[in-house]
Amino acid sequence: MNRSLIQAANRPCTLVVCRGCCCGNPRKHPGTDHTWQLDRLRAAAVGSGGRLAVRTTDCLGPCDQANIIVVQPSTAGRRAGARAVWIGFALDDDCTDDLLNWAAAGGPGVAEPPTTLTLQFVRPPREARARARR
Ligand code: FES
Repeated sequence: MNRSLIQAANRPCTLVVCRGCCCGNPRKHPGTDHTWQLDRLRAAAVGSGGRLAVRTTDCLGPCDQANIIVVQPSTAGRRAGARAVWIGFALDDDCTDDLLNWAAAGGPGVAEPPTTLTLQFVRPPREARARARR
């Protein structure tokens, strides 16, 4: 089996962190330390031993619900039927904690999300859904 097939077979839960025009913008959301948030997420990915990945993306669409973070299921989660879950208003440390706890437990399709995080689930725009998959 070639390397890309092996990687696809073991894809970890991935947090896709929007950092477009509104998400991560301190002028639009001055009460949030956006750099700290991304640093925390990246540090967790590094410390996860490959069970969590984090990447950033340009604007995903629903700017009025910034910060948007998309939780993509792992390969095991996808096999269980899970799809990407969109989190809106991801602005405070509690939300970041919930995201990291959920991802550490396996993420969509593997573990139940923290109840508080479910209150921040938002519907993905159709076009943005396609972009987030890339
Ligand atoms: S900048 Fe994140 S949704 Fe537009």
